[in-house]
Amino acid sequence: GLSNTREMFKKANEEGYAVPAFNFNNMEQMQAIVEACAEMGSPVILQVSKGASNYIGLEMVPFLGEAAVSYARAKGSDIPVALHLDHGPDLATIKDCIDHGFSSVMIDGSHYDYEDNVKYTKEAVEYAHKFDVTVEGELGVLAGIEDDVEAEEHVYTKPEEVEDFVSKTGVDSLAIAIGTSHGAHKFKPGDDPKLRLDVLADVEKKIPGFPIVLHGSSAVPAKFVKMINENGGKIADAIGIPNDQLRGATKSAVAKINVDTDGRLAFTAGIRKVFAENPSEFDPRKYLGPAKKLMKDYYKEKIQDIFGSEGAY
Ligand code: G3H
Ligand code: 13P
Ligand code: NA
Ligand code: ZN
Repeated sequence: GLSNTREMFKKANEEGYAVPAFNFNNMEQMQAIVEACAEMGSPVILQVSKGASNYIGLEMVPFLGEAAVSYARAKGSDIPVALHLDHGPDLATIKDCIDHGFSSVMIDGSHYDYEDNVKYTKEAVEYAHKFDVTVEGELGVLAGIEDDVEAEEHVYTKPEEVEDFVSKTGVDSLAIAIGTSHGAHKFKPGDDPKLRLDVLADVEKKIPGFPIVLHGSSAVPAKFVKMINENGGKIADAIGIPNDQLRGATKSAVAKINVDTDGRLAFTAGIRKVFAENPSEFDPRKYLGPAKKLMKDYYKEKIQDIFGSEGAY
């Protein structure tokens, strides 16, 4: 069955890697993720946002999660697989997902003030832990779009708050804001795409070994943006997080790194290429198949280049 994230994060931080947390919206993306992680021997967190869950149908999501486990086992792999609610906006959504069989949830309290964030996160933890479901909390605000919440500017995590937050809420992991952001436009042309790794280091000093999560960590590969634009797409000024900014972080207490946009770009690039080259194609397998393959191959590369989680299982 599905695993929660407790053992995954413990092993990741003992062995100096981070667990990939990849979002999916459909079966082919889920297959791409599971194939990549099973072939690499990497643990995996399958993430669905509330929007993704609405799209798939909440009742169907846990079946896709269990199917992912069976799919990995059928491939001879014993990697742990977590099914995680990404950016849980409120307690009602979180309870609903837990009741339907998710093994992990995030309560995104970053849009509340500190006291309310503590209050709602603590309530989520109390409910989740009754079912052995792990909880990710968040301190700080990422610039860009956080699901329904849009933040204009970065509010970096305040290291002096993390110890109090973690002990008051009982969360199992903590997402922090160090300059990453969601989507394909993380930096403007001419920006110096640097993360506040000093903030991460200060957080680690306050809660040594505690599992840290980074959101908004897509690299936005130029090759996929180019492929999209050369095949009828129009994505301008797309800039992500350079690999070298993240590689070191995975060796530290960063135990989970979230990637969604890169998978979307790879998938879209694959579909556009097929349609541009063969406008008469209308068999879904002929365009979703190559899209899936591109996403899978990219995630295998990414596991080696950033996560360092290959061969853990
Ligand atoms: O952090 C947000 C994820 O990329 C999911 O986005 O709400 O469009 O599914 P979504
Ligand atoms: P990206 O948009 O950088 O892929 O971030 C995804 C994310 O943080 C999901 O929670
Ligand atoms: Na780590
Ligand atoms: Zn996120």
